[in-house]
Amino acid sequence: MKATAKAHTNIALIKYWGKRNEELILPTNNSLSLTLDGFYTTTTVDFQEDLKADSFELNGIPEQGEAYKRVTAFLELVRKMAGKEVYAHVASDNQVPTAAGFASSASGFAALAAAASKAIGLDLDDKELSRLTRRGSGSSSRSIYGGFAEWQMGEKKDGSDSYAVPIADENHWDIRMAGVVLTSEMKKISSRAGMRRTVETSPFYEGWLKSIPEDLTGIKEAIQEKNFIQVGEIAEANCLKMHATSLGAKPPFTYWLDSTIRVMRQVQKMREQGIPAYFTIDAGPNVKVLYLPEHEAEVERMLREVPGVTDVILSKPGPGVSYL
Ligand code: PMV
Repeated sequence: MKATAKAHTNIALIKYWGKRNEELILPTNNSLSLTLDGFYTTTTVDFQEDLKADSFELNGIPEQGEAYKRVTAFLELVRKMAGKEVYAHVASDNQVPTAAGFASSASGFAALAAAASKAIGLDLDDKELSRLTRRGSGSSSRSIYGGFAEWQMGEKKDGSDSYAVPIADENHWDIRMAGVVLTSEMKKISSRAGMRRTVETSPFYEGWLKSIPEDLTGIKEAIQEKNFIQVGEIAEANCLKMHATSLGAKPPFTYWLDSTIRVMRQVQKMREQGIPAYFTIDAGPNVKVLYLPEHEAEVERMLREVPGVTDVILSKPGPGVSYL
């Protein structure tokens, strides 16, 4: 009862920011992302009848704390679905800078959901897999698909209609994303805690929610037409709106560092110089920059110039989940 799966992380262009049900991980808005080929997790799940408990190894190091708890809580869901009382050894290899805003939880849970469900004998299709992995981390529901995917929030209380759907696969359009690394430190406020505080206290949250449908319609149209400027303008504005909600929270908070703002200014400078490039930022300080292949060398050079930038990782659209 053993299986290995590989999943790539995704970066939201229309952000998921807030839950209506924390236990089932049901969001308050639809979100849309691009899966990246540069960042991924490979996970092996091995269920063995003689094990007394689950174990979890990340990049070769046994984990016992919060990460272990999340993995074993997720395996509990898989066991329930399969109706089997059997524990597993889980080994993950993470090619993502963990918890610094590179959404390692997205590729991590997508790979875990795929490997665990297969190993235990569940034969899930992509929709079922997306719905399952959502319970580990909301954003991972989108990593089941390559290229552009939309997580539909759904309406039902039980979450049965809350899963991602494919919008355009990784071969549709060669759009690029640079991951700009500023710090590899763990962030102080998790996305979970940040969302909760914002939903509960920010007067800007209502405005954020109201603005989502128009952003989604616009970006989906732009993706189909391969209209880079429209995709970039919508994504960048959507990111700024999300981060504005945290400034309105009580107590206020931000994920940005001074170097985050320097990178944002540098992207604006690229546009002034005629290079179409746009940024987006998740629940962390690092910045991701969208650009087209013909501007790759110039974009990379200008990003590396910014004080505080420790690395720039270039990526193409990546594939959906696969079994090895
Ligand atoms: O799925 P989580 O709990 O890692 O939350 C992700 C939240 C954002 O990265 C900020 C936005 C998104 O849609 O990925």
